[in-house]
Amino acid sequence: MATAPALDPTISNEEGTFSTSPGGTTPSRRRLSATGGGDRVYKNLPLTHSSQLGLVSSRHRVAFVAEVKIIATIKNIYISGPLLSVSSKKKKPDAEVAQATVEVNPELDVEELEGIGRVTGAKLKEKGYYTVRDVAFASAKELAEIIGNEERAAQIIEAARKMLGLHSFISALEVYERRKKIRRISTGVRALDELLGGGIETRSVTEIAGEFGSGKTQLCHQLAVMVQLPEERGGLEAKAIYIDTENTFRPERIMQIARARGLDPDQSLHNIFYARAYSSDHQMILVEQAKQIIKQHNVALLVVDSVIAHFRSEFPGRENLAERQQKLNKHVADLLRLADAYDVAVVITNQVMAQPDVFFGNPLRPAGGNILAHGATYRIWLRKSKENIRIAKIFDSPYHPEGEVSFRITEEGVVD
Ligand code: GTP
Ligand code: MG
Repeated sequence: MATAPALDPTISNEEGTFSTSPGGTTPSRRRLSATGGGDRVYKNLPLTHSSQLGLVSSRHRVAFVAEVKIIATIKNIYISGPLLSVSSKKKKPDAEVAQATVEVNPELDVEELEGIGRVTGAKLKEKGYYTVRDVAFASAKELAEIIGNEERAAQIIEAARKMLGLHSFISALEVYERRKKIRRISTGVRALDELLGGGIETRSVTEIAGEFGSGKTQLCHQLAVMVQLPEERGGLEAKAIYIDTENTFRPERIMQIARARGLDPDQSLHNIFYARAYSSDHQMILVEQAKQIIKQHNVALLVVDSVIAHFRSEFPGRENLAERQQKLNKHVADLLRLADAYDVAVVITNQVMAQPDVFFGNPLRPAGGNILAHGATYRIWLRKSKENIRIAKIFDSPYHPEGEVSFRITEEGVVD
């Protein structure tokens, strides 16, 4: 484990909201504000529901695109998905379809939507729906509770989605073009990057599963530093958000990794917004708050380490399984939606558990069942080898070759 002493949760996470990463030689913890440095603290923002959103999982889009190899074929295929553009509704010759898209600023004020006046606008904003994008990705049920009319809520969401082109079909060529825009963050391990096709992707949820001590948290720390590097060195020159559920975040470790990569350790800590999640509910609220941070700052990575620990401890036993999975489903859908809407790489860690009924093969499997299996776009399995060597494998991927690579956990972070 990391060598640093445990953080005092009352210090590291004032009022259970985000702070820039605590500790190290940076004792002054800045609170977040709408202007990026004042004293307004985002808290208790409402949850939105996503289960009825009908999001097309990126996993399926990836599989779909992977199958379509020839661009000529791509031009003739139209698909629908959560893409922020508006296509011309008139039938166009194939080649023109992709060019006919008009970018609409998804950050338009919610009052720009037809049918929303000042009063409704204020009600929505009070509950955290500030922009057209916020409304487009909301659930009808949640919105109906705010404005008191289910039919109207559905109409407003419809209008927002239309405005952002979320309903219109586009050519698969455009999907292909958009996939080319997906950004990647290097893991810092060349072999693992190669296995991942260049690093972890934005607009996706990448799950890191493995038993205790397999290096999940180490890899998360490393990514929170790697994202800050300039592009030519594998980063995105961006910030990270770190939601820590097990109190295993260590700023000292961030500083070590940053130093090894030639970054200023204090600056690296400043570039990580940190929050400790104290329960599954709190964890979900923090994801909502993270959206506000992403809107104000150049954030390209959101880590949730671990995604499942609170859910497992709060809903023990078979009798609570259905409720747990329902809640976890919403959480993972929220994360997918955030990744897709804000072009952020989401990384979640997951525990593995032994299956008592498996007699042949590997008795271990990631926790979270189908919800995580379908929710995560990419899944990395870590296992321990001798001493500081770890083996990583990508599993369940429609897109990556099955293969294993090894890496080492060292003072400098994870390396080839
Ligand atoms: P759980 O959260 O318990 O499920 O485990 P995890 O998969 O998150 O494991 P974690 O990433 O915490 O990895 C712990 C491993 O990293 C241990 O084997 C530690 O020895 C090793 N480790 C942590 N910090 C350092 C370090 O500074 N130097 C070296 N060489 N190893 C370290
Ligand atoms: Mg861990």
